[in-house]
Amino acid sequence: MHPTLNIAVKAAREAAKIINRASLDIDKLKIDVKRQSDFVTEVDRAAEAAILSVLRDAYPAHGILAEESGLAGTSADSEYQWIIDPLDGTTNFIHGLPQYAISIGLAHKGQMTQAVVFDPNRNELFTATRGGGAFLNDKRIRVSKRTRLDEALIGTGFPFRMFDHIEAYLAIFRDVARKTAGMRRPGAAALDLAWVACGRMDGFWELGLSPWDMAAGSLLITEAGGLVGDLAGEPNYMATGNIVGGNPKVFGQLLQLIAPHRTAALPA
Ligand code: IPD
Ligand code: CA
Ligand code: CA
Repeated sequence: MHPTLNIAVKAAREAAKIINRASLDIDKLKIDVKRQSDFVTEVDRAAEAAILSVLRDAYPAHGILAEESGLAGTSADSEYQWIIDPLDGTTNFIHGLPQYAISIGLAHKGQMTQAVVFDPNRNELFTATRGGGAFLNDKRIRVSKRTRLDEALIGTGFPFRMFDHIEAYLAIFRDVARKTAGMRRPGAAALDLAWVACGRMDGFWELGLSPWDMAAGSLLITEAGGLVGDLAGEPNYMATGNIVGGNPKVFGQLLQLIAPHRTAALPA
C-alpha cells in the first residue's frame, strides 16, 4: 500500500474507534443542529480531531478541508489538500441505522490521488491510489458490467435540507425510476460511491453534495473503471456538488436521462 494511503487508513481507523464506541450508547449523544435537518454530534467532532491529529503529525505542511473545521487554519498554498468527512451519514448514525462511513481523500494540485472510505459496521475498507486501482479490504474491485438500464440498480440521495432544486430532482427521479430495475437511498454518499466502485450499485446521482462527500468516493469509482462527472458529464462536480457516477455504460445512459432536466437554475 502507498505510504500516504497507509497514513490515511490509520487516521480512518482512529476515527472508527471513536464512532464504534459511541454507537454502543447513542442515547447519550449530544446533538446540535447546524441548519435545518443538518445534525452534528460530539462524535463527528471527536472523529475529525482524531483524523486531523494523525494527518498533521505525518504531513504538517499539507492543506486540509474538513467538514467540521473547514480549512482548519492550514496554509492555502500547499499543493496537497486532504478532504475529510469524519462521519458521513450522521442522520443514520443518530438513529442507530448502521449505514455510515469515514471518508478521507487527498488531492494533489486539484486532482484526487488517494482515497479511503471505511465502513465500521461491516469492517469494509475501500481504498484507491491514482493509477493503482481500487480495493475492498485486500481485493481489487471493479464497477459492475451491467449495460442495460432496465437491469441496473441506481443509488441516489434525496434532497433533505435544501429544496431549491426539488422539482428538477423529482423529475429526474421519475425518469430514472421508470427506466431502471430499482433505486436505493442508503444515506451516506461516500459509501454510496464506494458501492458503485465495487459493483453493488450500477450508478448513482445526487444534487448539492459537499466536496468531502465526493472526494474519496469519486477516485474509488474511476480507479474501479467507472466514470464520474457533473450533470453534463464534465469534471466540475466538486464545485457544483451535483454528481453522477457509474459504470461507463450506465453513466452515459444516466446523463441522457438527466439532460432534459438541466436548467439555467440548476448548475451542471
Ligand atoms: C450526508 C450524507 C447523505 C447525503 C447528504 C450528505 P453527512 O452527509 O452523505 O447521504 O444525502 O447530502 O450531506 O451530513 O451525514 O456527513
Ligand atoms: Ca457527508
Ligand atoms: Ca459528515
